[in-house]
Amino acid sequence: MSLTIYRKAHFNAAHRLYREDWTDEKNLEIFGKCSNPHYHGHNYELEVGVSGEIDPETGYLIDIKELKDLILEEVEEPFDHKNLNIEVADFKNLNPTVENIAMVIWNRLRKRLDTRYDLSVKLFETPRNFVLYTG
Ligand code: NI
Repeated sequence: MSLTIYRKAHFNAAHRLYREDWTDEKNLEIFGKCSNPHYHGHNYELEVGVSGEIDPETGYLIDIKELKDLILEEVEEPFDHKNLNIEVADFKNLNPTVENIAMVIWNRLRKRLDTRYDLSVKLFETPRNFVLYTG
């Protein structure tokens, strides 16, 4: 049996894609407008999937309230309305691309989630650009 339950979440955040060891010209060439030194924002949409077995006693795979609170604590509270480069320690030495943000979110949730569950993180940076990370 394979069953996945999803919880959606949302956060707004600012970022800048750049490497400190590159010149402004090189950063602009590689990252384009995303390298704007004055930062820019995205409305990130998140879909967290938890897979596992249904508990025959409750009929739940996971208590969705638990999952909601976990996403709130590990993603929304630390990331929402933040400058990811400056205010979120995970990105102090990590370019906050949608790929890396999805990985960071997965790692944060994985640490708190029982090992009997599989975890997937789908993160939309724009309605058309998104990544799926499953570990
Ligand atoms: Ni961007």
